[in-house]
Amino acid sequence: MNSVADTQLNPVAQPPVVLTSELRKVYRTGFWLNQKVVSLKNCSLQVYLGQTFGLLGPNGAGKTTLLKLLLGIIRPSSGRGLLLGKPLGDRSVKQRIGYLPENPYLYDYLTGWEFLELAAGLFQIPQRVQRQRIPQLLELVGLSQADARKKLMRRYSKGMLQRVGMAQALINDPDLVFLDEPMSGLDPLGRYQMREIILSLKSAGKTIFFNSHVLSEVEQICDRVAILDRGQLICSGSLHELLGSNNTYLKWD
Ligand SMILES: Nc1ncnc2c1ncn2[C@@H]1O[C@H](COP(=O)(O)OP(=O)(O)O)[C@@H](O)[C@H]1O
Ligand SMILES: [Mg+2]
Repeated sequence: MNSVADTQLNPVAQPPVVLTSELRKVYRTGFWLNQKVVSLKNCSLQVYLGQTFGLLGPNGAGKTTLLKLLLGIIRPSSGRGLLLGKPLGDRSVKQRIGYLPENPYLYDYLTGWEFLELAAGLFQIPQRVQRQRIPQLLELVGLSQADARKKLMRRYSKGMLQRVGMAQALINDPDLVFLDEPMSGLDPLGRYQMREIILSLKSAGKTIFFNSHVLSEVEQICDRVAILDRGQLICSGSLHELLGSNNTYLKWD
């Protein structure tokens, strides 16, 4: 959904880093795949370089579905989109993006360090660079080197796992980072710390696409927001605009 503010925010007419046009996803379910679940209805949005974009909506609204479509994990039923100027699913873009899934599966029998080495290997990051980057990322996410090197991840708390997940999402020094409900399941301190990490990414100039069902999280972090409800994008704009005169959209929170 295009708003006047979106174009105002982009005065130099830079192309959006995320662009979707009438993106739609219908899942087929049931034994005969004859039941349809419409998870995303004709979604059009843009995110520009350097923005921290929050996709806000209640559980089941279609936020994860949209993220998976953008990342090329699932294919749209119709519509199209561009990520960093390339069609959705284009593999060359993967080098420049990071992704923290909603419930990341991290290997129980690896240490955090080993897992990050594995992730770095997938991006063919040379050992020399890994030796610098892994400690830097551990410092950024607030995980001690001792824990990362010695403890198996099956012994990590939810907060520690989320930190490793975040470090993994940043291992390739991405320009664009997708975070799917990064604070869910964390205690208040964990949520605060995760918020600080995201704010430091923001000040480092990363473009962030952030999914959440909690208004206050989006409010504290994002400068642009879109609201999704039952697969339908119902509005987008700056927080100031959305919380201003017409905030009836926000009644679920
Ligand atoms: N693989 C799937 N098969 C069938 N339905 C799905 C699948 N994934 C999600 N859905 C349905 O799509 C809708 C949106 O889900 P989701 O994108 O996970 O929402 P959110 O992330 O906002 O909670 C929900 O009704 C959900 O049950
Ligand atoms: Mg979700």
